[in-house]
Amino acid sequence: MNLEDHLGDIIRKARMMSNTSPAVAARAAGLTEADLSGLEESGVYANRPNFNTLARAIGLHPGNLQTIANGWLPSKKDLNRWRELRVFTTAGNGITVNCYLAWDGVTRDAALFDTGFDVSPVLETIAANHLELSHVFITHSHSDHIAGLGTIRASLPAAKVHSSSKNAPLEQRNITGECVQLGQLRITHRATPGHAEDGVTYIVSNWPDHAPQVAIVGDTIFAGSMGGGNNAWELARSKVREEILTLPAETLICAGHGPLTTVAEEKANNPFFG
Ligand SMILES: [Fe+2]
Repeated sequence: MNLEDHLGDIIRKARMMSNTSPAVAARAAGLTEADLSGLEESGVYANRPNFNTLARAIGLHPGNLQTIANGWLPSKKDLNRWRELRVFTTAGNGITVNCYLAWDGVTRDAALFDTGFDVSPVLETIAANHLELSHVFITHSHSDHIAGLGTIRASLPAAKVHSSSKNAPLEQRNITGECVQLGQLRITHRATPGHAEDGVTYIVSNWPDHAPQVAIVGDTIFAGSMGGGNNAWELARSKVREEILTLPAETLICAGHGPLTTVAEEKANNPFFG
């Protein structure tokens, strides 16, 4: 799977975050404004920018921006390590989005994290593995992440919905310090607003065979990038630093878009957080 954000997306986001004009960024990169605009649009360049000075001008880690420009991808993850964890990538409106299903191998209790556009592969997996969907956890209420919620609720009405949206009914809202038990698995959450006001990261721990814990982060952070700040860039960035990059290094990061990654890989390679 490709990274969610190409080199140009990263530069544009960082430029917006740092309030740097195209003229100033282009000068720092040693490019014309037209070249910079083309790079931001396509992620490719004809004239090589000076990544070092560009990164400094727009608040990115110079070495990590260079790493992205060199085609970095996180290492391929072997999901067999977690056994009862599945990723579903569905498409709609010209974009793809990930949702995740986790379950306890003994009790068959399952939890879905976001729904994506099309829940039919999720429903098939639930049926094929004889699972009971007990919980649906929403990372944030942007439409691509919850498009299938109506279908899930109609098909599996016993599943309890959890979200941090202030528009959600009280009984669905995440409570600070709450821990949901899914058989042997434990699910906690931490508030990660910024990209979305109701952004929340769910941590699934206590996997069989001591597999590392899993952080389902929505669009808080992507492999090599982060979700758009939607006018709360600094909040978004600080929440990643405080709530996600402080997790153990081997934590598997399951993002709403793009490939699986780890806390260690993002600390070492993400240009927003070097
Ligand atoms: Fe989003």
